[in-house]
Amino acid sequence: MRYFNYSDGELHCEDVPVGRIARRVGTPVYIYSAATITRNYQRLAACFRGIPHTICYSVKANSNLTVLRELAGLGAGFDIVSGGELHRVLRAGGDPGKIVFSGVGKTREEIDYALRQDILFLNVESPAELEMIAARARHLTRPARVAVRINPDVEPHTHRHISTGKRTHKFGVHWREAIAICQRATELAGIEFVGIGCHIGSQITSVSPFVEALHRLEELAGSLRGAGVQIRYLDFGGGIGIRYQQEKPVSPATYARPLKQAARRLGCHIILEPGRLVVGSAGILLTSVILEKKVAQQRFVVVDAAMNDFLRPALYGATHRILPVVRRRSARPSPADVVGPVCETADCFGHGISLPPLAAGQFLALMDVGAYGFVLASSYNSRPRPAEVLVRGNRFQVIRQRETWRDLIRGER
Ligand code: LLP
Repeated sequence: MRYFNYSDGELHCEDVPVGRIARRVGTPVYIYSAATITRNYQRLAACFRGIPHTICYSVKANSNLTVLRELAGLGAGFDIVSGGELHRVLRAGGDPGKIVFSGVGKTREEIDYALRQDILFLNVESPAELEMIAARARHLTRPARVAVRINPDVEPHTHRHISTGKRTHKFGVHWREAIAICQRATELAGIEFVGIGCHIGSQITSVSPFVEALHRLEELAGSLRGAGVQIRYLDFGGGIGIRYQQEKPVSPATYARPLKQAARRLGCHIILEPGRLVVGSAGILLTSVILEKKVAQQRFVVVDAAMNDFLRPALYGATHRILPVVRRRSARPSPADVVGPVCETADCFGHGISLPPLAAGQFLALMDVGAYGFVLASSYNSRPRPAEVLVRGNRFQVIRQRETWRDLIRGER
């Protein structure tokens, strides 16, 4: 679901020609569509109507305060993985009672912060962490609600860097070994055991790995029930894939069906932690052409965005559509590599992209970069991080200033 379309040959975000934003704010710039975020969120929420559930948007996908505020306004909860993310969510007006906290290495400071804010629960990922949380909870005299993150040992068929639910991964507690930690959680002073969960990976396009993981969680829930322990929450993580090129991702409805059945059988509240599905298609990265060059007949289009601004192609070999902002019918396209100015060969947004001849200053758009775009940006090569803009109908607003050279050296001596 996207609100990025051509009108009179020019790419628009909702009702705003994106070229206008680039001329006003400069490039590179991330541009988000508020309507797309809302639509994506509501489409998923609609699939769970009638089932007790909370959609805890995964902050790591796009943590801009305005984006978080937008989602809080829609009633979303939040999935966080650091104290910094908790700080952002609270600043954006997020409800602490709808925050879940995952991660294999929460520090004492982060645990204390979460307990003081009385978040919904912490996802515990190891016996050592459970003991640590219990100790902090007793110290602060604030009981800690915890769910146990299970490693269901399933193959999600996604990029190996973003697969998280196999036994060789650092995440969670192996599903066959989880009974003991759940029971310990029910007994430990300071701990209130509230449920189980998993997150098996990201950009998962078929439903079968989810179903497999769900079966393992249900099996565990059954054993726990046999031991007299009830599950209040089942946190099924995130991971639903989106369409970048030709993928045919599982629809939210197909994804929801088995989960809803499980929720009814178990009589529990479902927590979801989607990131990419909510914001992925809601963002583009606009960049300007610096020049074209040829190296031994190979055509390169050099643009002013680079791997520091958008890392997914370099890190995961991700391929995002790259479109000219202005389409000219007369222009003859030919294949080109679209590259940034950073001194690394991996600094390439696409190989053999069919593009018309491009003059300096013309704009290109990298599509579907709303998730894991700006959040992965760095200032490598001492390049200030780009600006972010939110479009709402026919208006736009800068929601993060472009960094300056002065920002680059802040705090240095
Ligand atoms: N919950 C947990 C515990 C997670 O670790 C993640 C993502 C999510 C939820 C959200 O997953 P999503 O619905 O967005 O798939 N940088 C990579 C993706 C890393 C995902 C990390 N964990 C990329 O650009 O593809």
